[in-house]
Amino acid sequence: MIPSILPTYNRAPLEFVSGKGVWLEASDGRRFLDLGSGIAVNSLGHAHPDLVAALTDQAGKLWHVSNLYQIPQQQALADALVGASFADTVFFTNSGTEACELAVKMARKYWHDKGQPEKTTIIAYHGAFHGRSSAGIAAAGSEKMTAGFGPLLPGFVHLDYGDMAATKDALKDPGVGAVIVEPIQGEGGILPLPDADMKALRALCDAAGVLLILDEVQCGVGRTGKLFAHEWAGITPDIMMVAKGIGGGFPLGAVLATEDAASGMVAGTHGSTYGGNPLGCAVGTKVMEIVANPEFLADVSRKGGQFRQGLEGLVASFPDVFDHVRGAGLMLGIVCKAPNVDVVAAGYDAGVLAVPAADNVVRLLPALNLSDDEINEALARLTKAAEAVQTALDAKAEG
Ligand SMILES: Cc1ncc(COP(=O)(O)O)c(C=O)c1O
Repeated sequence: MIPSILPTYNRAPLEFVSGKGVWLEASDGRRFLDLGSGIAVNSLGHAHPDLVAALTDQAGKLWHVSNLYQIPQQQALADALVGASFADTVFFTNSGTEACELAVKMARKYWHDKGQPEKTTIIAYHGAFHGRSSAGIAAAGSEKMTAGFGPLLPGFVHLDYGDMAATKDALKDPGVGAVIVEPIQGEGGILPLPDADMKALRALCDAAGVLLILDEVQCGVGRTGKLFAHEWAGITPDIMMVAKGIGGGFPLGAVLATEDAASGMVAGTHGSTYGGNPLGCAVGTKVMEIVANPEFLADVSRKGGQFRQGLEGLVASFPDVFDHVRGAGLMLGIVCKAPNVDVVAAGYDAGVLAVPAADNVVRLLPALNLSDDEINEALARLTKAAEAVQTALDAKAEG
């Protein structure tokens, strides 16, 4: 019999009842150090007092009004995002997937309104993840996500991530209107595109007169130590998708765009009942207030360096379990030799939560405000998990 919850997830037998900072408490009383943050969502940990206050203050006043009316909380967050980024304008969504939908629509409408409606093709990259909607799975293109869901939204071309020569070649097609890419692939295995490639991609898009869409749903909002990951390369996109960390745990996403890229999106071309609701925007504004502070971001970089150094030591101590560390800031991945799911499962026993990703990677995406002591505690628990995996490997080798 089908379970009452549609069984699209393989869930771990863990049930959490409360959280504070990087700590989660399970229904059986066990405490877990959360290095997954709901997959890069709880950017300021669980139950951050300022976010709780922002949400509950707003909840006491007004939950929802239609986008048919002015929403001052939405205006405040849009102003904060525009003030802190390349963007001139913002549309709010409830998720990263919805941001992907709009990014694709915006790029196509741009060319339609510029009198070049044939420029519908979007270049995307293998290993990408842009969400689970029809546009999202077509954009990512992997068999795993698309099998059985055809006919797919047409108009996507898939190249190897980081293959600039292939990108240059594909851009020769006059039907190409945009490129969509994650500056750091998250689900794909915490794989950063080097700054030089980000710069080259911007230059190639400029030369071809094509829009650059960045998917910063996972790597944005302070995760790498800059407010947005593309800032490290000193470039800006035309359109950017944001979600996850911007809501700190409240469902919130956004598409940020330049005035030119957004020029096709006039009244009546897009909408959302809940997108930009007062609750989400009140929380998002508070997240921005905290995260967009240069001192906070510098501390993310410092802690990212400290955590990474500890992880390098862990990899050196367990060469049969781990291969190497990659990522940026507090978006770190350990490429494993042992099955990554075994490491994650051993983590559960050691009281630490991490998240598997493609390419046999264990993802570590802790709250950006975790303390130095919590980094040390995380390393101690990961060491315990690695010991257990090593013991299992030894037992298997003995026979
Ligand atoms: C890079 C990226 N884009 C888009 C999405 C989809 O976001 P959501 O799950 O909020 O719809 C995700 C989610 O993991 C993501 O990591």
